[in-house]
Amino acid sequence: MIEASAPGKAILLGEHAVVYDQPALAVPLPDLRTLVSIQQLASDRASIYIEAIDLDQSFWLHERGDRDPLACATRLALAAATSSHPESLQIQIRSSIPIAAGLGSGAATSVAIIRAIAAYFDTSLADQSISDMAFQVEKLHHGTPSGIDNTVISFEKPLYFQQKKHCQTFVLGKDLQLVLGHCGVTSQTGDVVAGVRKRWQAETMTYDALFKEVGDMVNQAYRALIEGKLQALGELMNANHSLLQSMAVSQHELDALVESARDAGALGAKLTGAGAGGFMIALVEPSSAGTVLKALVEAGAQHAFTTKVST
Ligand code: PMV
Repeated sequence: MIEASAPGKAILLGEHAVVYDQPALAVPLPDLRTLVSIQQLASDRASIYIEAIDLDQSFWLHERGDRDPLACATRLALAAATSSHPESLQIQIRSSIPIAAGLGSGAATSVAIIRAIAAYFDTSLADQSISDMAFQVEKLHHGTPSGIDNTVISFEKPLYFQQKKHCQTFVLGKDLQLVLGHCGVTSQTGDVVAGVRKRWQAETMTYDALFKEVGDMVNQAYRALIEGKLQALGELMNANHSLLQSMAVSQHELDALVESARDAGALGAKLTGAGAGGFMIALVEPSSAGTVLKALVEAGAQHAFTTKVST
């Protein structure tokens, strides 16, 4: 049996503006992972059976078309890893990354499938090739992805990302202690991105100015991350949340969790990912992680946890 995995991710600053060519910052969340195992099936048909336990899906590959994300990732990886697959295989997918919550579960699933298929066929694929394939799948999830999810998950390193321009992994100056809380409302990234696009079309100058302001904050936060200036990073996260509120992608439950994390001593807190639901993220001193976690649970977080991103 062959196994491979891929991490979740959190956007530290810059979501939404990144779709409009501004830079953004993301980190992998190594404690959350999608695991993919591949083993031979005792069958004389060269076919592939996919079992996605957490998605409650199981199917033969030939039953699904190319618009199915799992089938698409599998076919792209097979095409890159082998010229023929005469065997009958079972691909099993398990994940500890919450689904549709802004933590990159879709991209992690694609990357883990591609890594596992490459390993099974003993083919080495560059991180950039894996990311490019996962990006094809991201386009099925929502029409205009920036590419930040597939990139940070494939490279598994802190990432400064600007579409079509600049993409740079980097080393953190200090460990990041994070606390994340789910606000209890689910949202679809595609819908939230489409909503922003509609408002941008109606008020282009206002939104372009908001996006530019986010981009400037991201550049300051990039320096703060490299220099390990966590106080400054926290303040920039708070300021970014205000701009996300101005873009109307936050909502009451998310704002309440963000407030409670700040009141409990977080250095900074904001929504992460598409918003309109899903997770918020707080940057904390290690000594206050427990207090902030407790505050989030008391404020109604449905799923809250602490995690660390190490230098
Ligand atoms: O909710 P997620 O994890 O898919 O993140 C979306 C981030 C956006 O900037 C809103 C969209 C994108 O493609 O970058």
